[in-house]
Amino acid sequence: MKTMNKGFASALALGVALGGPVRAEDVEVLHWWTSGGEAAALNVLKDDLGGKGTGWIDMPVAGGGGEAAMTALRARVTAGDPPTAVQMLGFDILDWAEEDALADLTATATAEGWDQIVPTALQAFSTYEGKWIAAPVNVHSTNWVWISKAALDAAGGKVPETWDDLIAVMDAMKANGITPLAHGGQPWQDATVFEGVVLSLGTDFYKAALVDLDPATLGGEKMAEAFNRLLKLRTYVDDNFSGRDWNLASAMVINGEAGMQMMGDWAKGEFVKAGKVPGTDFVCIRFPGTQGAVTFNSDQFAMFAQTDPAAQDAQVQMAKAIMDPVFQSAFNVVKGSVPARTDVPDTAFDDCGKKGMKDLAEANVSGGLFGSMAHGHAAPASVKNAVYDVVTAAFNGEYADGASAATALAEAVAAAQ
Ligand code: BGC
Repeated sequence: MKTMNKGFASALALGVALGGPVRAEDVEVLHWWTSGGEAAALNVLKDDLGGKGTGWIDMPVAGGGGEAAMTALRARVTAGDPPTAVQMLGFDILDWAEEDALADLTATATAEGWDQIVPTALQAFSTYEGKWIAAPVNVHSTNWVWISKAALDAAGGKVPETWDDLIAVMDAMKANGITPLAHGGQPWQDATVFEGVVLSLGTDFYKAALVDLDPATLGGEKMAEAFNRLLKLRTYVDDNFSGRDWNLASAMVINGEAGMQMMGDWAKGEFVKAGKVPGTDFVCIRFPGTQGAVTFNSDQFAMFAQTDPAAQDAQVQMAKAIMDPVFQSAFNVVKGSVPARTDVPDTAFDDCGKKGMKDLAEANVSGGLFGSMAHGHAAPASVKNAVYDVVTAAFNGEYADGASAATALAEAVAAAQ
């Protein structure tokens, strides 16, 4: 640092890319899209904006679920230098809105009729006290299983529909000498698998436990059963799972080392990036026992309030670009998610994307659509983090049994509220 000139040092401190200083007509975007599939999707957005004259200053902070990105964001805001646009999930958006930190996008939203085409479940997080404070770029869902077609065929070829089917397939994969379940031992990944297990024990149970945070349900017998199922899944994971990034777990399925991964549909972005085709190379199914239900999360871009009119204009341009129906199709085809607008046709999507769109629309009507706990759409970060702690401890064998884990979960959630 001693020899570094002052301007360069402060540019670095501000997180400015080496390409040059941030111009008012650029957007500086904080996000956690760093895997191959995610970066490919990000480029669709970057190129779209570039074509319209809005420059892009990249601020990537790796880590699924966005925990690390949210820590970096807090530091930037505390330093009085928030990025202009930030990828955010659910309750985090509402928290920043409550702090009055976000730009008001209502004029653009009204002119473009966002309230007509954004599903109500998403609007709950893109609006605050009647104002639009974020632009949703997609809808992901977490209750998916991505299975290698070759590994499934070798295991008998039957797509698992129930918990017992799932165990039978994984046993057969184990007997065939591959790792049945590709998993990365990081709290958000443990929690992603866990919420699939909870949902597989019933939609009422998921809602009572993870949305309503009912203490008796959180600490009850069914939750003990959920933890026992999680511990059973743990027996199908390889020895090196600890700390593994989610996209490396996807790669294990892609290259035939493992049979399946339980992960949100951003995993499909990795399969697609690797040139894999649904139905031929891999199979996408809902977590067995959760057919008809969807646990969703939506990536939205919130804009941090700016005073410079050129910077404000760049934010509006970005919000408009995100909400463009043609862009929503192009982006989500690559990302693995589905559009955040209800009026985008499914024609450009592969079979998993088409299924994702259909499942979402049906769950929305049937009452089977719930916010994902692991991805910030069921409860605020304090509760989410408490759930992460207990689930990860349970996955790593820190409780005597499922019942003790359930008791710990009820206590941790109560303490976090
Ligand atoms: C985000 C996805 C992202 C995934 C893994 C999720 O929380 O919603 O967009 O691909 O984390 O990084």
